[in-house]
Amino acid sequence: MPHAAEAEMYVPDAPQCDFQKIRIIHVGMGASGLLAAHKARKMLSNYELVCYEKNDTVGGTWYENRYPGCACDIPAHTYTFPFDPNPDWSGYYAYAPEIQEYFLRFYKKHDLEPFVVLSTEVLSAEWHDLEGQWQVQLRRKDGTTFEDTCNILINGSGVLTKWKWPAIDGLHDFKGTLAHSAYWPKSLDWSGKSVAVIGTGSSSIQMVPQLTAKASHVTVFMRNQTYIAPQFGASITNEEADPESMNPAAAGKHQYTEKEKCRFREDPEYHLKYRQRMEGSIVGGWDMFYRSSDLNVQVRKYMQEQMRERLGDRDDLKERIIPVWSPGCRRLTPGEGYLEALIAKNVTCNFDNIVNVNETGLQTIKGDPINVDILVCATGFDVQYQPHFRITGLSGQIMQEQNEPNVYASISCPGFPNYFVINGPRGNWGQGCALPSHEVQMEYILQCARENAGRPNQEYAPEAQRHEPAESHSIWSEECKSWYKDNTVDGRIHIWPGSLLHHLKYLKHPRYEHYEIVYKDPDNMFAFLGNGRTIGQVKFGAEAPVPYIRNEEDLPWDIE
Ligand SMILES: Cc1cc2nc3c(=O)[nH]c(=O)nc-3n(C[C@H](O)[C@H](O)[C@H](O)COP(=O)(O)OP(=O)(O)OC[C@H]3O[C@@H](n4cnc5c(N)ncnc54)[C@H](O)[C@@H]3O)c2cc1C
Ligand SMILES: NC(=O)c1ccc[n+]([C@@H]2O[C@H](COP(=O)([O-])OP(=O)(O)OC[C@H]3O[C@@H](n4cnc5c(N)ncnc54)[C@H](OP(=O)(O)O)[C@@H]3O)[C@@H](O)[C@H]2O)c1
Repeated sequence: MPHAAEAEMYVPDAPQCDFQKIRIIHVGMGASGLLAAHKARKMLSNYELVCYEKNDTVGGTWYENRYPGCACDIPAHTYTFPFDPNPDWSGYYAYAPEIQEYFLRFYKKHDLEPFVVLSTEVLSAEWHDLEGQWQVQLRRKDGTTFEDTCNILINGSGVLTKWKWPAIDGLHDFKGTLAHSAYWPKSLDWSGKSVAVIGTGSSSIQMVPQLTAKASHVTVFMRNQTYIAPQFGASITNEEADPESMNPAAAGKHQYTEKEKCRFREDPEYHLKYRQRMEGSIVGGWDMFYRSSDLNVQVRKYMQEQMRERLGDRDDLKERIIPVWSPGCRRLTPGEGYLEALIAKNVTCNFDNIVNVNETGLQTIKGDPINVDILVCATGFDVQYQPHFRITGLSGQIMQEQNEPNVYASISCPGFPNYFVINGPRGNWGQGCALPSHEVQMEYILQCARENAGRPNQEYAPEAQRHEPAESHSIWSEECKSWYKDNTVDGRIHIWPGSLLHHLKYLKHPRYEHYEIVYKDPDNMFAFLGNGRTIGQVKFGAEAPVPYIRNEEDLPWDIE
């Protein structure tokens, strides 16, 4: 049944939006890869997906970061995929091995293995416009290389994934044990040893109390200030589940009782309310990120006072480590026991610049030699604002050669058709948990993929426009140094300049008007209408469902 009168118009003999096979490559198998595999199965048909992971297992961040004390910085019940609660979290904050277990359980429960190729690194990707395909170069662990192609390339290789040694002269001359927070030697024993820790970021904050507990002496090199966050969500009681459950004010140390876990397990509605109350209390604090708002002023004063109190008579430390800038300008970490560790007898805080490292230890600008058995670099990451693998887009342009990342809404890049990045530059890394944004972004990408697949003979090649929301209202534009600004004080802000809710709302549905859709045959852009039938009619013939006939107006319906 041709519906186009023009002779040259081609009318495919297929139902409307007949799904063309699409092939997707996803880079990485951390939280993002897990979502890709799980959601593609739910949202797509007639697709192939392969997730290439350079490590020999899944989990990403939570597999790689094994330093002592590594844990989530928000309550564990808010660090899950939003649709996959975990009633069994052992404590208020979950440590890395337990989070890794959660992700592995998810991987197995949803049988995601068929989508995954481990021990294989993506080296580069190049867009071939004529074919409408990405050509991807890969390397296996044994060094052999091969190529693969896809219509859609999803970069889920993480923002904080490439750890880096600090640029300090002689670092590798050190003859003791050299460790990095994200490259922690297996079975390292620091009992009775002297340890130096470089850095005051979240990794250092979490490991220092653990190291201090067993080491003979710990020297912490602190060239910057830091806040220690209060217990977010500590006002959320769980007495209804167990009257004996711990006072929320001591939440950071709380281990869930069997009664509490049992209630979460057996009463999903109760658990949901608990999770929502907790998430609400974090999301509700957004105003603290607004410069000079009442909450911003209050929280800053409160945190500074709390730190002063906890540091007791150590005026030297108060002077040096309590920031003048607002809390949240660098990622906040609860830091259970950190300030207490800094004032412990076996700890020295050193504020001098390190000039070099030698065989036995470090030398500061003051010339003091500090000899140690173990040298720990908690010095952070080479943050992935530009992908760590080479990407060549339209007209041979190379993403890494751009002066700075040109990313639309933290998810796609002008000039790089059918390329998406999960929570990339301008992503939601500042407030609350990253996983809700990951979920919404994955669904966004798969909606685009579905749109692509449902347009026979047409190539869906979005070209995003640059997007730059205002950001001067946020505390991130204050004078503080952070990875959010590429470790500068006044550089471009690379995280979402709004609240978590603001990010989710923007990305819940693709705004196709912000994209340029390129058709393989521009004169025949309605070819997807096909032969006048729907997929449902082809499948079910005269029995095709009529879901728009319904009793409840608000019941969602769609036509296959
Ligand atoms: C120590 C630490 C603690 C954190 N704590 C929190 C927290 O408390 N709350 C929070 O919301 N967020 C936290 N984050 C952020 C955390 O990274 C995210 O929550 C989330 O785990 C990111 O998942 P992802 O899949 O995007 O990236 P990742 O977990 O980094 O996974 C990326 C995967 O891609 C693989 N990969 C990279 N490059 C390639 C390549 N070229 N080829 C093939 N594979 C590749 C990596 O091996 C890795 O497995 C933390 C980050 C770190 C480093
Ligand atoms: N769940 C959690 O609590 C948690 C735990 C770990 C990490 N994370 C995430 O990962 C991000 C990175 O955390 P991170 O602690 O690994 O790194 P980071 O925040 O980038 O901190 C690195 C630290 O190393 C210092 N440093 C770097 N080079 C140095 C040198 N040459 N000499 C002296 N000091 C040096 C930095 O000082 P300057 O500030 O002066 O540059 C900074 O204090 C966090 O912001 C967070 O998003 C979260």
